[in-house]
Amino acid sequence: MPQIVIENLFNLRINSTSVHRKVIEIIHENGIDWMHACGKKGRCTTCKIILTSGEENLSSPTKAELEFFRQGRLKPGERLACQAELPSGEIVVRVDKFNKFPHVHYSE
Ligand code: FES
Repeated sequence: MPQIVIENLFNLRINSTSVHRKVIEIIHENGIDWMHACGKKGRCTTCKIILTSGEENLSSPTKAELEFFRQGRLKPGERLACQAELPSGEIVVRVDKFNKFPHVHYSE
């Protein structure tokens, strides 16, 4: 069962029954606002997740993510929530400081 812990949202834990869903879909299905400026098409990076652990549980980087890595717009330990699938297992992530919403209260 996929599980997502969002560290700087007070360690909010999402337990999902969905399998083979993009990380951002699991987050949105649970009523949590997460930036997605390009409409989840892999064209911006505003949906970036910073991984604290569990990177091995995610699907392999997509072509779009590999291009952002090449450009330096994604760093090791970062993925796009609209591209990465979480088939099972847990990931612990953080919201990037540049992608926080003003109306959401973050713990850090
Ligand atoms: S929402 Fe734009 S890259 Fe994910």
